[in-house]
Amino acid sequence: MRSLIFLPNPLLRERSNPVGLVNDDIRTLADDMLETMRCASGIGLAAIQVGEPVRLLVLDLLEKGVEHRDVFINPEIVWASKEHTVYEEGCLSIPNYYAEVERPKQVCVNYLDRCGRLKELQAEGLLATCLQHEIDHLDGILFIDYLSRLKRNMIIRKLRKKLRSEERCEKH
Ligand code: NI
Repeated sequence: MRSLIFLPNPLLRERSNPVGLVNDDIRTLADDMLETMRCASGIGLAAIQVGEPVRLLVLDLLEKGVEHRDVFINPEIVWASKEHTVYEEGCLSIPNYYAEVERPKQVCVNYLDRCGRLKELQAEGLLATCLQHEIDHLDGILFIDYLSRLKRNMIIRKLRKKLRSEERCEKH
């Protein structure tokens, strides 16, 4: 298990580094992330959300009866459809906040699997949305960046306030 980091932690705005070698350290990190994500009832998690600035993400979702549980290393979107779709998104690093975000409906992603083999995945629907959301994390982009500045600032203010009140509770 690893600790999640939350907005406004500045690490969430960092660009993550490519994984040079897919070794046991990376596989252990991926397994820890899957476990951490499951405990937090998430469907996707990027390594930066547990404070590790490497281009690695995990997904665990069930859509249309199809299970997608996988590790994506150095994922890259090589094609995106012109057609867009809207999903209500949330993020483990931005707790209790959800908003509709529009993204390409289908994407093609190249990545390395947990054995370091080059793979290609054609995704659509929720899987495509999740992949795009998590790949954004690797570049320091959050789903609230797609909302209006007004909405985004409101969320950040609320989270700062919550963080301060939690800190006060810890002191007393
Ligand atoms: Ni997220």
